[in-house]
Amino acid sequence: MADDLTIQGSLSYNCLGIKRKINDRKRECKHIMKDVSELFGVRYPIIQGGMAWIANYHLASAVSNGGGLGLIAAGSADAAFVKGQIEKTRELTDKPFGVNVMLMNPHVDEIMRMLAEEKVAVVTTGAGNPGKYMSMLKDAGIRVCPVVASVALAIRLARGGADAIIAEGTEAGGHIGELTTMALIPQIADAVGIPVVAAGGIADGRGIAAAYMLGAKGVQVGTAFLVAEECQIAQAYKDMILKARDTDTVATGRSTGHPVRVLKNRMSKDVLSLEKQGIDPEEFENRMAGTLRAAVVDGDVVNGSVMSGQIAGMVKREETAAKIIEKMFREANDIYENRHTLFGAGRAI
Ligand SMILES: Cc1cc2nc3c(=O)[nH]c(=O)nc-3n(C[C@H](O)[C@H](O)[C@H](O)COP(=O)(O)O)c2cc1C
Repeated sequence: MADDLTIQGSLSYNCLGIKRKINDRKRECKHIMKDVSELFGVRYPIIQGGMAWIANYHLASAVSNGGGLGLIAAGSADAAFVKGQIEKTRELTDKPFGVNVMLMNPHVDEIMRMLAEEKVAVVTTGAGNPGKYMSMLKDAGIRVCPVVASVALAIRLARGGADAIIAEGTEAGGHIGELTTMALIPQIADAVGIPVVAAGGIADGRGIAAAYMLGAKGVQVGTAFLVAEECQIAQAYKDMILKARDTDTVATGRSTGHPVRVLKNRMSKDVLSLEKQGIDPEEFENRMAGTLRAAVVDGDVVNGSVMSGQIAGMVKREETAAKIIEKMFREANDIYENRHTLFGAGRAI
């Protein structure tokens, strides 16, 4: 009798387990079909990338008001600063927005606790695995979207409960990985059962349409928003982006294992030469300290770190964030609607 009960008990337990698995899968399937705009509650499936020293409440609220998902970048700031940015963003928009947290930020624990209390719509993370904070953020109803540059990390984070994966190719500005957007997106899209957002090298409708064709459900854009009217960086920084050509970026810091894409200038030339001479990684970090701030705040585009993606060569006009977004998606829609003409309408190949 006891055995029967045990068998019955374990059978019903297994049945429940199977049922739960099926339900989970159903939920997952529904999730896959949802595009990123539904996931974040925004009109357009576009995230304005977190950009340290740059993505403040002005830019984040302008992007959110324009129908995208604006992000405040925590950079290396503390929780009080980021909370102030959240409050100011809320004064300027009633639309969803998010916060980007670099996991090497020394204040990361207190920032994550504050974000859970503030219940921002979305948290994106860079530089590692946010697993430690996942349940706290998700319990607060926050969508968690890590930025990754490899399939292995994407799989680990999807299993850990991420809501979407932001897959960033090496074309992007700022800290970068090795793989190109073209190679990375389809491989991550095949590997995970959650929406993938493509980042790196997207600045117009062609980029959005291409990302969609590669399996992405949305895009993250950084460089193109650097020249948004609401982006409060020094005009010299904006001018350098507007004048950039396709081959004007370079990656500094490869020798330290932490490459960063910037526009070529005296600073990048100097540090690349120091790297060639085998500069010690710690010395390198000291050399780089404050260089992004110098470019962004002081407009020192000679000695500062003018972070930018390769797509800067195509960014030619200063416009409002709303116009940038609207134009990109109008173009993407046109391309998508005409996709049947790729090989001749209605003709088999
Ligand atoms: C100036 C600059 C600063 C950036 N800083 C950050 C950052 O603080 N955190 C982060 O996760 N990504 C950062 N990024 C990457 C962007 O969020 C975004 O993923 C990237 O810009 C997308 O590629 P794109 O530059 O080709 O548009 C930065 C990018 C730029 C251009």
